[in-house]
Parts: sequence; structure tokens; C-alpha cells
Amino acid sequence: MSKVTLTVNGANRELELDTRTTLLDALREHLQLTGTKKGCDHGQCGACTVMVDGQRINSCLTLAVMHEGDEITTIEGLGTPGNLHPMQAAFVKHDGYQCGYCTPGQICSAVAVLNEIKAGIPSHVSADLTVAQQTTAAELRERMSGNICRCGAYSNILDAITEVAGGQT
Ligand code: FES
Ligand code: FES
Repeated sequence: MSKVTLTVNGANRELELDTRTTLLDALREHLQLTGTKKGCDHGQCGACTVMVDGQRINSCLTLAVMHEGDEITTIEGLGTPGNLHPMQAAFVKHDGYQCGYCTPGQICSAVAVLNEIKAGIPSHVSADLTVAQQTTAAELRERMSGNICRCGAYSNILDAITEVAGGQT
């Protein structure tokens, strides 16, 4: 067992965990933040995506004890039912889901994607690394490719992200 202190959605959370506990299980099983979903538990689906110090990661692939002092943002920390984050509101508006199981991960990933583009971080499909990256459909599809949706809501998810990015849908 080991102690770990995380800042989760702005609040200090002290936990005593088996050192083998993933960040995903710490959030879901120990902090009851069940918005973050466990799909594959193997880094293949993106359902468990959260932000750590502003960067998206698969929380099933990292141990909680590796995040001492880190700031974790989950879907519960982005907005509330009465005060949705713009990305949450856009997913509702564009019907960017069906069963909703992948949605928390999709939304956390989408928020981080727009920050990555704004920060000038290139992707595999960025043609010119010397110019500012754009929020094209190709860029968004590539950058969201780690978030699988078994319901196939991809086109509506793309519309939602495009709108938040300031583009036409
Ligand atoms: S549950 Fe983490 S990537 Fe699938
Ligand atoms: S909405 Fe069902 S898996 Fe994406």
C-alpha cells in the first residue's frame, strides 16, 4: 500500500492504494468518479481518457501512484448539468453519441485536442510542420482516432468538435 495525493477536479484527494491500482480504478473505485469509463482496460479504446496536468492520457495505462501532486480533470470536472462545458453542450446539440459509453472519453479527448492544435503540436496528418496547425476534419479525425465509438457516432462527434473549434458544421 502507498499513500498518494491527487488534485482531482480542483480538490485535494488523499488515497491509500495498492501500488498496482491504475489511475482509472482509483478514480472509479476509490473516488466514485464513475464518469470515466472502463472499456478495454488495455489502452485500446479511449473510454478512460482524462486530462493530467492538461494533457490527455488513457487512465487505464497508468498507475495512480505515479501521479503524486498531479492535477487530474475528469468529465465531472469539465462542467455540471446546469453549466455544461462548451464541448459537452456541443455533443448534446449535435447528438454526438448513442449509448454514451465512450462519450466522457470523447469529450475529454476533444477538449485536449483543441488545446494541442492551439499549442501547435503536429499530428500524423499535418502536412507542414512549419505552419500553425488547423482544425480541419482530417486533423480532428486523426487526433480523435484513439477514441473508439462502437455506436459509430463519429460524424456527429466531428460536427460537435468542429463547432467548438469555431468552424462550420
Ligand atoms: S479503458 Fe483505457 S483505453 Fe480502453
Ligand atoms: S456512443 Fe456508444 S460507444 Fe460511442
